[in-house]
Amino acid sequence: MRCLLSAYLLPLILHSCSGADWCYQTQVSCESHCKGPDRWSEVSADCGKNRQSPINIVTKKTKLDERLTPFKFTGYQTVFDSTMKNNGHSVQVSIPITATVSGGNLGETYKAVQFHLHWGTNGGPGSEHTVDGEQYPMELHIVHMKQRYNRLEDALRDPSGIAVLGFFYEESSSSNRKYDLFTHGLRSIQNTNGNTTLRKISLNQLIPPEVNMTNYYRYDGSLTTPGCTEAVVWTVFENPIPLDREQLRAFSTLKFHDGNPMVGTFRPVQPRNGRVVYRSSGAAVAASAVLILASISAALGLSRPH
Ligand SMILES: *[C@@H]1O[C@H](CO)[C@@H](O)[C@H](O)[C@H]1NC(C)=O
Ligand SMILES: *[C@@H]1O[C@H](CO)[C@@H](O)[C@H](O)[C@H]1NC(C)=O
Ligand SMILES: [Zn+2]
Repeated sequence: MRCLLSAYLLPLILHSCSGADWCYQTQVSCESHCKGPDRWSEVSADCGKNRQSPINIVTKKTKLDERLTPFKFTGYQTVFDSTMKNNGHSVQVSIPITATVSGGNLGETYKAVQFHLHWGTNGGPGSEHTVDGEQYPMELHIVHMKQRYNRLEDALRDPSGIAVLGFFYEESSSSNRKYDLFTHGLRSIQNTNGNTTLRKISLNQLIPPEVNMTNYYRYDGSLTTPGCTEAVVWTVFENPIPLDREQLRAFSTLKFHDGNPMVGTFRPVQPRNGRVVYRSSGAAVAASAVLILASISAALGLSRPH
């Protein structure tokens, strides 16, 4: 209603703020005239193209691809010190060591550049990718670029220049102690542009053993923030990383540049536009087993009364 009342003022305001920055839907209000996800193509034309990310993964439409073999990681065990920063849209950690991923039909070796996360409000739905419509509380993106490039700009000009490994989180009853340093560090970077040193971390430490790294989805997409460059080979792992509610909520204590809570830092899912999502042989096995059981019991008239 408030928005409608001031609608006649809008052209004036938009005109005077034509360089307005992009923002997430949670930041859009009458007072802030930043461009929410439905207007990102005004910030960068690529955001309106047809192989955008994230997407909803419909498991029964995924195609089994035997070439999606296990990955080979190097440097993922290496312990390093890094800077963790509130960049105004997320929390980002640079990766100052050489860590690579290859195999899994990636074609060539990619080196890790940074990782960051996307989350909801106080542990509510907040992942970028969804699976059969389910949105997880948070999603980790470990961003890699082809090893042969020295600059990110060069990798972004290659349609498969970037490989992002995406991991979901789920709420668990016990806390994940391997995340303590990380979640404690959030306290020091509540304000936009705040940074702090993160000591003695490794990439492996982010991914607990219960995540089966052979079960994943693959599709061609884009960066999920403007420029939305269509240069990303996406790998989304099926098994989520457990964190307890307190750990998930810690991310909502960060602040956007205007001082409001940094929540809902995800782009809504984008049209698949005929793209195929491939799955490795281990992925969605449990899901399809459940479907088969359900259809058998339905056929036998065994389904429970509603
Ligand atoms: C971290 O913040 C300090 C000042 O607060 C600044 O001098 C430094 O350049 C920042 N580092 C990074 C990596 O942003
Ligand atoms: C990962 O999943 C695959 C396929 O479901 C299974 O064969 C394998 O044993 C699992 N590996 C681990 C470490 O759990
Ligand atoms: Zn991301």
